[in-house]
Amino acid sequence: MTTFRDGLLAGKVAFVAGGTSGINLGIAKRLAELGAKVAVCGRDAEKAARAAGEIGGDALGLSADVRDYGAIRAALEQTAGDFGLLDIVIAGAAGNFLAPALGMSANAFKTVVDIDLLGTFNTLRACHDLLNKPGASLIAITAGQADQAMALQIHACAAKAGVNQVVRTLAIEWGPDVRVNGISPGPIAGTEGMERLSPNPGMKEASESRIPMKRWGEIGEIADAAAFLCSPAASYITGAILDVDGGSSVGDAGRMDLARGLG
Ligand code: HXC
Ligand code: NAP
Repeated sequence: MTTFRDGLLAGKVAFVAGGTSGINLGIAKRLAELGAKVAVCGRDAEKAARAAGEIGGDALGLSADVRDYGAIRAALEQTAGDFGLLDIVIAGAAGNFLAPALGMSANAFKTVVDIDLLGTFNTLRACHDLLNKPGASLIAITAGQADQAMALQIHACAAKAGVNQVVRTLAIEWGPDVRVNGISPGPIAGTEGMERLSPNPGMKEASESRIPMKRWGEIGEIADAAAFLCSPAASYITGAILDVDGGSSVGDAGRMDLARGLG
């Protein structure tokens, strides 16, 4: 259920790369609820069509691999052709798996860097001349690994650190006309990402104890942050990485439990 007023994004056109499942699909649904015309895109055409059906209305479900500049450009062009110039672009496609550096081939490392980092560059680079300017809002979906090194995540740490710098650089280069921001979700319940990174219940409990808010986040909480950044309420925000992580990035709250134990 949205917490924003109805029609906040009426007349806006949104494209969500990686919007066919999980967090990004949640964002796409929220933007549509608020009145935007929405296109979602992933590699799997059937999954994209199902996602568009879930969003409802005249949502478009498109197939493109963000590693392929021509393919993502074609999907963006189709969206602009059907709906008009784009107001909102979300670069959210990502791939991940747990593996130690020594268990990762060069191609395994490159695969995640190509999806997350090159894919973000491709999506944002390819949309620029299709944007409704001034006023367009671009958001990259990053992660805490950008700043906090994490074992078994060397590919995602490197890729998401790059994503944050893509956001900041484009905010400078495209400043007057286009806002470019990042959202850094904490662990979000019910997602493919956390299935992969936290595959058993013990790991979930342990990670929750370290989060100041003492719980994983909800997809809707990331969707609300995206809606805010796309709205006029964020008109002077660009180049920011918004942590929506229950305070995880601030520090480890596990020690507070020890301190309480000391009474
Ligand atoms: C080691 C692995 C591996 C694993 C794949 N590889 N899985 N290496 N351990 N578990 C290696 C392969 O052997 C191959 O290297 C290379 O990676 C490419 O594999 P492909 O299967 O050919 O790649 P591709 O088909 O492009 O698929 C990409 C993928 C896949 C990332 C590997 O898992 C995928 O499509 N993921 C999309 C969905 C996803 O990951 N969602 C979660 C996003 S969440 P070789 O050398 O053999 O050729 C997220 C969370 C962020 O990002 C942070 C949370 C806190
Ligand atoms: P998800 O459900 O697996 O979503 C990934 C999306 O990206 C899917 O739509 C997928 O569709 C698409 N995709 C993957 N590779 C692609 C490619 N090469 N080209 C085009 N599309 C591709 O993942 P999620 O867990 O919701 O994560 C979504 C975003 O949030 C990611 O950027 C992730 O890094 C970030 N994040 C997640 C968490 C979390 O707790 N889950 C935490 C921090 C950050 P196809 O498979 O059909 O291509």
